[in-house]
Amino acid sequence: MRVPKRLAPLIEEGLIDEVVRPLSSGKEAEVFIVWASGHLRAAKVYKDANTRSFKNRADYLDGRKTRGSRDSRAMARGGSFARQAEEESWQTAEVTALGRLKAAGVRVPEPRGFMDGVLLMDLVLTLEGEPAPRLADCDFTHDEAQVLYGELIHEVQLMLCAGIVHSDLSEYNILLAPYGPVIIDLPQMVDAAASGQARKLLIRDVSNIRDFCGKFAPEVLRTRYAEEMWYLYEKATLTPSTVLTGEWRDSTRVANVDNVRHAIADAERMRRPTPGRTSGGPGGGPRGGPGGAPKGPPPRQAKSDPRLDQSGLETNFDERRPPRNDGPRPPHPDGPRPPRNDGPRPPRNDGPRPPRNDGPRPPHPDGPRPPRNDGPRPPHPDGPRPPRNDGPRPPHPDGPRPPRSDGPRPPRNDGPRPPHPDGPRPPRTDGPRPPRNDGPRPPRNDGPRGRGPGGGR
Ligand SMILES: Nc1ncnc2c1ncn2[C@@H]1O[C@H](COP(=O)(O)OP(=O)(O)O)[C@@H](O)[C@H]1O
Ligand SMILES: [Mg+2]
Repeated sequence: MRVPKRLAPLIEEGLIDEVVRPLSSGKEAEVFIVWASGHLRAAKVYKDANTRSFKNRADYLDGRKTRGSRDSRAMARGGSFARQAEEESWQTAEVTALGRLKAAGVRVPEPRGFMDGVLLMDLVLTLEGEPAPRLADCDFTHDEAQVLYGELIHEVQLMLCAGIVHSDLSEYNILLAPYGPVIIDLPQMVDAAASGQARKLLIRDVSNIRDFCGKFAPEVLRTRYAEEMWYLYEKATLTPSTVLTGEWRDSTRVANVDNVRHAIADAERMRRPTPGRTSGGPGGGPRGGPGGAPKGPPPRQAKSDPRLDQSGLETNFDERRPPRNDGPRPPHPDGPRPPRNDGPRPPRNDGPRPPRNDGPRPPHPDGPRPPRNDGPRPPHPDGPRPPRNDGPRPPHPDGPRPPRSDGPRPPRNDGPRPPHPDGPRPPRTDGPRPPRNDGPRPPRNDGPRGRGPGGGR
């Protein structure tokens, strides 16, 4: 056949020997059967972005790795360079993914080369040497569908272990080879660890294959492998040999908004000082009678699901279900549970509060309190207190105190004083002493002078 323009460079380079025929022409790519290195191969020619349909493009681009941060920034900015970077990312994503998946043991065509927007890969063939059909083109017995479903789930598990979510998995992108299903068409795959959409896309992938196999084996429709797988993947416990159960139960606990609202209202009431309390009449308190309604949206109606979480706490997590025990449950040690009262709640009485009853108190059930006794005290049961003894003290049991034996006080020592350690006192300098005025001197004794004892020179 005539060589398609996009394949000419690969022929020139010697990557392709001969173009056999076109195999498929879709919105995003054209696939040709070619001879290369002595083998029949598939040459997938990507259409450029303008002719490609970009379904949920944002989902696929989320977390997509490019050659470098320059490309990532360009893709975020937009513009022509951005489109080119995005295009390259799109085209190389498939060859990269095929390489990773092949290495991880996933059944995908072996990639053989990539050049100028053309992916060369092994052609999946039937036993007769024809290109393998898509699952969508085949019929299955019940048992075949069951086996097929198990195989596909295992392939998805292996892909997730390799960190890849296909993101467009369906019966149209799985070929039926003699040795089992082969997964193709991966340019929109997402990195499970990097993309915020990975879980959602994984669930969609698994739902597609479950719904397809469920047409032949309806019991598989009950299985929930994607959620189980993702839970284990996030916990980093998913391995290629993990045995999955397909059992999963979403959390059934739903926030009971009414419970929370009432708890807040109760707390509000208790916090308010009593005198400032209003009765909820016109213009009244937060509970709101006419005119007192809080601004904002009306309170939400409580869900009528009987499994509501009475704590009112919002819980929204998934739990892995243990393997189903379908046998009869043993009786509870506390006996049967009383029937739940799931009837409707009695309407809350949010009307105006009755006025405070400040009138006389009703009589106490124990009768009236006896009047206070302010009269004289009754006599003490131990009799009157004895009068204070203010008389003479009784003699001391040890007898009278003996007289002091200090003897007479020694005479004062009036002898000459010892010399002062600072020496003799200096003469007084208080000026001349005033004349003694002791009256007239007695008359001198002018009689003969006698010699007094020791008085001679
Ligand atoms: N490696 C392959 N071996 C056999 N057939 C293939 C191969 N790759 C693609 N095909 C055929 O080409 C069709 C389109 O390929 P696909 O990769 O799904 O591209 P798209 O769906 O984007 O057009 C497939 O449905 C399949 O029939
Ligand atoms: Mg396809």
